[in-house]
Amino acid sequence: MRDRWLINGAWCDGDTGSTFDVRDPASDAIVATLPCAGEKQATAAVDAASRALPAWAALPFDTRAEHLRRAADAMTAAQRELAAVVTQECGKPLAEAEGEVRYAADYLRSAAEQSQALQQEVFDARRPGVRAIAVPEPVGVCAVITPWNFPIAMLARKAAPALAAGCTVVAKPAEETPLSAIAFGELMLQAGVPAGALNVVAGDAPAIGAAWLADPRVRKLSFTGSTEVGRMLMRGAAEQVIRCSMELGGHAAFIVLEGADVPAAVQGALAAKFRNAGQTCICPNRFLVHRSIAGAFTAQLALAAADLMVGPGTDPATRVGPLINDEAVRKVRNHVADALQRGARLVVGGDTRRLPNRPDRFFEPTVLADCHPEMLCFQEETFGPVAPVMAVSQSADAVRIANASPWGLAGYVFGPTAEAERVARQLACGVVGVNEPAPSNAYAPFGGVKWSGFGREGGHWGIGEYLTTKYLAVREQAGTP
Ligand code: SIN
Repeated sequence: MRDRWLINGAWCDGDTGSTFDVRDPASDAIVATLPCAGEKQATAAVDAASRALPAWAALPFDTRAEHLRRAADAMTAAQRELAAVVTQECGKPLAEAEGEVRYAADYLRSAAEQSQALQQEVFDARRPGVRAIAVPEPVGVCAVITPWNFPIAMLARKAAPALAAGCTVVAKPAEETPLSAIAFGELMLQAGVPAGALNVVAGDAPAIGAAWLADPRVRKLSFTGSTEVGRMLMRGAAEQVIRCSMELGGHAAFIVLEGADVPAAVQGALAAKFRNAGQTCICPNRFLVHRSIAGAFTAQLALAAADLMVGPGTDPATRVGPLINDEAVRKVRNHVADALQRGARLVVGGDTRRLPNRPDRFFEPTVLADCHPEMLCFQEETFGPVAPVMAVSQSADAVRIANASPWGLAGYVFGPTAEAERVARQLACGVVGVNEPAPSNAYAPFGGVKWSGFGREGGHWGIGEYLTTKYLAVREQAGTP
């Protein structure tokens, strides 16, 4: 495993003279000590990306796509090794980590299939004598900043469409999980992506971000992370008028309608809520269940949640791994305490489970009943394995409560299909699973509305984020043969 940064196809030290540790959240053991990159390395990465840009952008789409396909195949072949890296630094169970690696490879394959997005279009501009052509062009050097909860898939989700579009990339993974990004960089190099087309640095995040946002050669920023940091980055991006895509916080509602198949809804809730120990932007954060089945749903969900094995992600039996750090544990505890203090009923879980010789970071799958919108867990993302349930009398109430949030990334509706689809169309969010607990897909548009951000990732929508359109208005020169 490399323990350096990738700049211009070479593995480099940091420029700050300091180092930082990457820790396994399940044991607190130091798994790597990396050089801390700062402003100088960030700028060196942009130097490399902007030097590589003309040749990479000039390649035919099919050649770029071939590199991405090769990388996807290599990723699939190395699925187990890469998953081990993901689990080691972010804590999710190995089976989930393998799923994440497959998801990352799908983003590479999906981007490699979007040649249509780069076709120029001759169109009728209502200008007699003018041949009007819309030409898609790469936006240029793209800065991508990725989170710790999907350390390889989120990088693939951004870098793959950027590279397919003909852009070059400077990437900064989260300091908690840089090893997956380093592995991704190495894999891309081995797949033939030329030096400088993809560069990876991390360390002093504010210095790196500031250097990129001040650099006029950076033309695009794609960020996944908190709304608070997204706002800060957008302010910074305003100076050089850098185009942004923002995938920010979520606060998904999970609506269960009258007439829903309760066991199916419970299985859906289990899969969507407790994936990655609830540390997923699209995790349901509020369960709005029709009064006629709320009791049965809550009881069955609690029984199933109590059965989920809590432990280190490396244990094949584990279904719920550790939270990423102590701060995350504090936040989840605070949400549970606030709910209980405001009248919620604890059905199962409620605190961490102490495991011998392990840090106090393993939060039990928790189900709370009798919740209401005044509770903290109904107002903001918990990012932990807590399922607060509120009974509602009609679907209109569920929609009103679901939409009364400044966030709007994902939502879920379980129930008779036609009614569930009708309700789904009323939700103010970017992604809705209708009787489907895992709507994300590399071929589908992913992104939010309101405080959850803007821009879409996946399929042709994803590649469009890295393209700009040039309009050619061509009038024949008089007398030209
Ligand atoms: C995220 O948590 O931001 C990604 C979730 C997904 O792609 O399903």
